[in-house]
Amino acid sequence: MDRVIIFDTTLRDGEQAAGGTLNIQEKLGIAHQLEKLGVDVIEAGFPISSAGDFEAVRLIANEIKKPVVCALARAHPDDIDRAWAAVKEAKHPRIHVFLSASDIHLLYQLKKSRQQILEMSRNMVARAKGYCQDIEFSPMDASRTEAEYIYQVLEAVIGAGATTVNIPDTVGYAIPDEFGDLISGILKNVPNIKQAVVSVHCHNDLGLAVANSLESVRQGARQVECTINGIGERAGNASLEEIVMAIKTRQDLFNLTTGVDTTQIYKTSRLVSELTGFLVQPNKAIVGANAFRHESGIHQDGVIKMPITYEIMNPKTVGIPASSLVLGKLSGRHAFKERLAELGYSLSEEDLSRAFAAFKELADKKREITDKDIESLIAQEQRTTSEDYHLDRLQVSCGDRGIPTAAVRLVGPDGQVLADAALGTGPVDAVCKAINKIVKVPNDLTEFSVKSVTEGIDAIGEVLIRIESGGITYTGRGADTDIIVASAKAYMNALNRLLAAKKAAG
Ligand code: KIV
Ligand code: ZN
Repeated sequence: MDRVIIFDTTLRDGEQAAGGTLNIQEKLGIAHQLEKLGVDVIEAGFPISSAGDFEAVRLIANEIKKPVVCALARAHPDDIDRAWAAVKEAKHPRIHVFLSASDIHLLYQLKKSRQQILEMSRNMVARAKGYCQDIEFSPMDASRTEAEYIYQVLEAVIGAGATTVNIPDTVGYAIPDEFGDLISGILKNVPNIKQAVVSVHCHNDLGLAVANSLESVRQGARQVECTINGIGERAGNASLEEIVMAIKTRQDLFNLTTGVDTTQIYKTSRLVSELTGFLVQPNKAIVGANAFRHESGIHQDGVIKMPITYEIMNPKTVGIPASSLVLGKLSGRHAFKERLAELGYSLSEEDLSRAFAAFKELADKKREITDKDIESLIAQEQRTTSEDYHLDRLQVSCGDRGIPTAAVRLVGPDGQVLADAALGTGPVDAVCKAINKIVKVPNDLTEFSVKSVTEGIDAIGEVLIRIESGGITYTGRGADTDIIVASAKAYMNALNRLLAAKKAAG
């Protein structure tokens, strides 16, 4: 069976999504999880774009062994040199060069002729080839480019050494039939096309990114570029989990395979959502909270009798844990550890002890601890371990007549205990103001949302906060059964990420 190469661009195009910035350690953590997921290529970043991104790509290139590690570069010598400097230590390095091809971009943005673009594409691929064997080229905005011109560009870049030619639907304009025709046209009309893998990169502006990618695969494309949870520029990119599961579930139709270990999908989705702060919509295919929930009585009846009646995939194949055990106040360390292992976590003894203490604290407040509670608890633990400032105590007074007041106590970077208090328009405002008096980093709070992790009045509340400072957005998350405490934790998380980014920038 033919294999489709899964090229993951969560760390590059995914991170380009407004508000989705990740720090170096977070990018590295996601890259390790992508390796476990079994993707073939990780596009780790755009090294020329910032010193931080260069460093993230370099670290990923050094640590990731199985997948190809790819760096993006414009068709410009400095970009290519920088991309190579970042990935040269990788076991399997790739440079991905891109340049606009559509007349719209040539006329209004680049102000260059088709001939000039063709020459630049050829020359820059040749420059990249001087460094590295594995070269990808993308004629940007291909779906709005005359097909004959794309054929010429592709022939030229393959002649110069491109081993993958990627066809981007940059603005998400294509319709499946039409995009499929473009791919089959390329396979028929580019004389040296057999020397390269044909890839597609679809955006989701019309909600067709996955459909366009799948149609391309049917027409002969053998690499698909996609992101976890479909995150990415504007409406996002084609969603990796949807493409992989469509190919697997409809093997009868595609007769294709991927190297993805689908049981890692759910965990990867949760990690990316947690670190980028982009919540997964409940009805999202494959990884949404409702994706495998049956509400209608007729459906429930069918699933109980035989799951295949209304379930086309077994939730276990995407790694959604089927919980057999409900934990509670009396559960011991061993049962907790077992449950963690079933959920795919393997913690060091020290981390396990901390997580178990947090679990016991939660079990005192909440009768039944579900898998979602445990995931939220572990995420909260992981957030706090890398913090400069740590929330130690919080006391709030509010009500319809009182003046919202907050007193906070933080532990600072050198272990010093710092306390202050403030008034606010509401309890969350008072908490943020009290924290600001201690941490003193100017910022604007741009987004605040609360959701409950599970059902019930004693559910854990998860708060997401975005703050802006110097034109950059930082996301923070916090979880607790008390939503004011969760808000304080989320705000501290965002502030700590801001401080870490400032430190990294020198
Ligand atoms: O959408 C796009 O065209 C891109 C290219 C850099 C491949 O992201
Ligand atoms: Zn893109």
